[in-house]
Amino acid sequence: MVTGVQAKLGATLPVVFLTVHYGLGHLAHLTRGETVLVHGATGGVGLAAIQYARLHGAQVIATAGNEVKRDLLRALGVEHVLDSRDLRFAEEIRRITEGRGVDVVLNSLAGEAVSRGLEALRPGGRFVELGKRDVHENKPLRLGPFGRNIAFFGQVTARAHTLDVCDTQAVRRIIMEAEASGHPLRGVIHSAMHLEDGFLGTLTDQQLRDALNPKMGGAAALDALTRHHPLDLFLTYSSGNALIGNPMQSSYAAGNLCLEALTRKRRAAGLPAIAIEWGAIGETGYVARNHSVQETLSRLGILPIAPGEAFRAAEDFLARSTCAWAWPARLAQPPALGRSTS
Ligand SMILES: NC(=O)c1ccc[n+]([C@@H]2O[C@H](COP(=O)([O-])OP(=O)(O)OC[C@H]3O[C@@H](n4cnc5c(N)ncnc54)[C@H](OP(=O)(O)O)[C@@H]3O)[C@@H](O)[C@H]2O)c1
Repeated sequence: MVTGVQAKLGATLPVVFLTVHYGLGHLAHLTRGETVLVHGATGGVGLAAIQYARLHGAQVIATAGNEVKRDLLRALGVEHVLDSRDLRFAEEIRRITEGRGVDVVLNSLAGEAVSRGLEALRPGGRFVELGKRDVHENKPLRLGPFGRNIAFFGQVTARAHTLDVCDTQAVRRIIMEAEASGHPLRGVIHSAMHLEDGFLGTLTDQQLRDALNPKMGGAAALDALTRHHPLDLFLTYSSGNALIGNPMQSSYAAGNLCLEALTRKRRAAGLPAIAIEWGAIGETGYVARNHSVQETLSRLGILPIAPGEAFRAAEDFLARSTCAWAWPARLAQPPALGRSTS
């Protein structure tokens, strides 16, 4: 902890620096020689953004709402300081950048200032949205500036609910609550599973139901309840087990193959859908918890991939979205089996 900083205040430091790292680094890829417009620059995120930009050799144009705050920014060595309450900041920016515009905007302003911020971007620039007010109020955005090939990154708020994915009433209620709070549903990621291992003939009806319900019943419920929502993605987690099989996990394979059949059906209907046949995921989840499973998979040549690698693979498949299945696994040697990817 920094000396003289109360624990309660100090606890906020990682949050603002992570926000900046994620927004300016991971999303906007701010690089040396670029210019970033930081709105509300005397707040926690703004001050962290100034440090981040300097560390990465980028130039800062900062705004603040009153003269005292603007003096603080000048005292911190920020060369170009503008008034965030005066919408002419966009014209000022064009003058400062000799008509070119800034490379990145880190925005926390609402209303008309959002459109002015978009206008202040150079063609191909990146706009990172931190503000929540316009999102909550479902405000429209003028799309003209997007004709200059700019990228808009909105930060996402996540909320966790505990429910049985097969409980259609409960899932419907969550969707309705999200819609009512001004957050339209745009994507579904389905990863629930329950395992009942054993040869098919030895499983009871109840065990079969328990294994099939989260995969098959859950995906069917999510599909039915979201059919009339304009989704960008409908991602289900299948397994390499659906491809190579395992006599002790036929109920699991059946559940995964149902996900893939649903994926084909949705795609045939022109709806977004992709099923990822994960190999083995390391560090977290079922395989990471079960060393004997890890050993068995390793003997078959299937090695765990780190969650970060898994996320990158998922991002890649979703961006390309050209095939219904994908199998991101690290293999000791390539699989002998092939699979249709249409
Ligand atoms: N981990 C891997 O290496 C791997 C490999 C291939 C495929 N996958 C796929 O990836 C997904 C996630 O695997 P994982 O390793 O993270 O599994 P996990 O740790 O066992 O988690 C499964 C989750 O599903 C939830 N669940 C079960 N039935 C549910 C229901 N009816 N409604 C809502 N939630 C339900 C469980 O909640 P409770 O704890 O409350 O029961 C649990 O949180 C699975 O679909 C799996 O097939 C994983």
